[in-house]
Amino acid sequence: MAQTQTSAQDPDQGVIALMPETSAPPEPAVKKDMGRALISAERIAKRVEEMGREISEVYADIDTPLVLVVILKGATVFAADLLRSLSIPAELEFVSAASYGSGTSPGKLRLAHMVEGPLVGRHVLLIEDIIDSGRTVSAIEKRLRRLKPASLRLAALLDRPARREVDTGIDFTGFVIPDRFVIGYGLDYAGLYRELPGIYTLT
Ligand code: IMP
Ligand code: MG
Repeated sequence: MAQTQTSAQDPDQGVIALMPETSAPPEPAVKKDMGRALISAERIAKRVEEMGREISEVYADIDTPLVLVVILKGATVFAADLLRSLSIPAELEFVSAASYGSGTSPGKLRLAHMVEGPLVGRHVLLIEDIIDSGRTVSAIEKRLRRLKPASLRLAALLDRPARREVDTGIDFTGFVIPDRFVIGYGLDYAGLYRELPGIYTLT
């Protein structure tokens, strides 16, 4: 019988750990490259709602709509859910950076698309799927600061601190994960698996 592994979380820390195998069937059906279940769709939904509430509280008193700057492509799924968890007005902008090619090792960082609207005096929240080395967000933050926003914060669904090279402060973190490449909920491996509703390790 096919076996899968589930994850456990310290409810106080939001730290995800790999746990021993259980006999629970994987959901959805296993695809090639799909490893252990790490974070379920239900758990992601709950955490993203919490983050939405927290972000709405932090920005409750700003007098212009919050600008969500979403890093393409991996953060789009997270951003779409986070946007709908906000109780404050928000606008959407996109930036495009690629630090991974078709595999799991870092390549050269490219900034292919920059925000369209002016950010002068605006409150900006950068939205990323996962912070690994920290190089992607620090390069983008540097570019965004030149546009003179009133404030610039970072929301990341996943934080994988094991391979950090650049010190990046994350203002809103979904989950801290172990040193494993992950797929699903927008995160890809060679362009695939973004459609998985939960987050899985790569085999
Ligand atoms: P960093 O620049 O090393 O922090 O890498 C962050 C970027 O690499 C993110 O925007 C992701 O697109 C990609 N990335 C890093 N780790 C993973 C992973 O485990 N799965 C999928 N994409 C990843
Ligand atoms: Mg990315």
